[in-house]
Amino acid sequence: MSKQPPEPADPHDDEPIREHVFDGIQEYDKKLPNWWLMTFYGSIVFSIAYWLYYHTWEVGASPEEKLALQQERIAAHAAAEGLDEVDDDALFEASREESLVEAGRNAYAASCSACHGAELEGGIGSALKDADWTHGDRPMEIRRNIMEGIPAAGMPAWRQSLGERQINAVTAYILSVNPDLAPDDEPGG
Ligand code: HEC
Repeated sequence: MSKQPPEPADPHDDEPIREHVFDGIQEYDKKLPNWWLMTFYGSIVFSIAYWLYYHTWEVGASPEEKLALQQERIAAHAAAEGLDEVDDDALFEASREESLVEAGRNAYAASCSACHGAELEGGIGSALKDADWTHGDRPMEIRRNIMEGIPAAGMPAWRQSLGERQINAVTAYILSVNPDLAPDDEPGG
């Protein structure tokens, strides 16, 4: 008769067992793992913070508000491109739109730099940077001067050859290098 090796100790021996039995199967009464509890409590804390931030205090912009902001910007852009009413504010807004300013810079280099200088420093035509604006320094006046020209002074009209969109872009470009022309409520104005 050989000795039986001792049964290996069951590591679950001293863990409590649930009362119920299903088809002869019993369950240990285990604690939930910490990672699971952290995720669970974390999501509760997050949902409360989220609710306060977006709904109770309305600190964060809702998707609707973000959409409205985007639409405002698009409207300003469209206005500056001549699709809608253009005014001083729309032109200033446009002077901060890199794509429009870039288009204006190109049009300026092609059509204006011969008389007004590559760096807007002036030449045959007056300086358009840090300038003494003799024909008006409001965005709409600058735009009008480009549009209609100043025939008596030798400044051609550009409405026909450039069109409104390009003239708006050139105006935006000129404004972008003349931050001192900003309306009073603008920073640095
Ligand atoms: C053939 C030369 C010539 C070209 C090309 C030309 N200009 Fe002029 N521009 C002038 C002259 C000359 C004046 C008038 C200067 C004055 O009265 O002191 C002037 C005046 C202006 C003024 C008014 C400046 C002020 O002091 O109020 C603006 C703005 C202007 N030009 C923009 C443009 C833009 C933008 C273009 C290109 C689309 C352009 N010009 C192309 C000759 C030109």
